[in-house]
Amino acid sequence: MTNDYIELINKKLDEFMPINYPHKIFKAMKYTVTLPGKRLRPVMCLETCKMFGGKVEDAIPTACAIEMLHAQTLIHDDLPCMDNDNYRRGQLTNHMVFGEANAVLAGDALLTFAPQTILKNSKQLGAEKLLKLMEEFFHAAGAFGVIAGQVVDIESERLNINDCKTENEDFEFYAQTLDYIHTHKTADLFKLALRSGAIIADANDEQLNAITEFGQNLGVAFQIADDILDETSTFEEMGKTLGKDKEEGKLTYVSLYGLEKAKKDLNDLIDKCFNILDENNLKSEIFEKILKKIKAV
Ligand code: IPE
Ligand code: IPE
Ligand code: MG
Ligand code: MG
Ligand code: MG
Repeated sequence: MTNDYIELINKKLDEFMPINYPHKIFKAMKYTVTLPGKRLRPVMCLETCKMFGGKVEDAIPTACAIEMLHAQTLIHDDLPCMDNDNYRRGQLTNHMVFGEANAVLAGDALLTFAPQTILKNSKQLGAEKLLKLMEEFFHAAGAFGVIAGQVVDIESERLNINDCKTENEDFEFYAQTLDYIHTHKTADLFKLALRSGAIIADANDEQLNAITEFGQNLGVAFQIADDILDETSTFEEMGKTLGKDKEEGKLTYVSLYGLEKAKKDLNDLIDKCFNILDENNLKSEIFEKILKKIKAV
């Protein structure tokens, strides 16, 4: 089932992104979007729509747009002025292939191309729903969302985490800062994917709140897992440059709490996600599969 969704998403992403003139920018945009990512966010968008009784077809342009937005955040995240990484999704990063200027522009272009894709291809949803989707999209993509998280993430490289561990007051500040980073740089796009699927399916407020809480916890869990894997996994497994968080002195869950506590807290959050599904009578094999996959061993 997950694979059916992924196949559908990949086919639609290809269709939504023809190579127009100037070819260079459309090629650069499509390059990172179509590399083999896990497609977690669009899959979650489609599954939420289905779970709340909506039609999967109705959510396809939105799911694809969220993957385009995600690719934008990856392209910019990898730039020399940000995380300075050479590999992504098993291949060279966007700026390594197309040059830094084109990578900046490809990210900018995706940021506008994505909501345009929703508007162009989802007219059947009607103006009111489209307006809601736009509000969600702009909130998550902009300075209230991912960008807020990325700014504080980059700033955190200047903090000296090891010095703070003895000072309780500082520790609390770092813990809150880390939670802020994870919430915005990662959980905000998870919530966008889930909430958009729910909105398309006409979910009620209670359902919307439940799926938002699920997305917040799953998003933070996912970023803790990513922080762990940055120190413990391999390029072959992850397809991206690893080990840099430590090198750059980033504030991560592992640098603040250590590996063992990171794994424990990650698994507690995963349990919490299972509980949220249970308590709200939300049944989905796909979400269960995703949760099991993120769990630390
Ligand atoms: C990478 O996200 C960025 C993080 C939030 C850690 P994914 O791990 O979902 O990346 P892809 O889409 O599979 O490449
Ligand atoms: C991911 O944080 C957040 C965004 C891309 C918005 P990371 O910098 O840890 O992601 P990876 O490890 O490069 O995928
Ligand atoms: Mg980063
Ligand atoms: Mg990075
Ligand atoms: Mg990372």
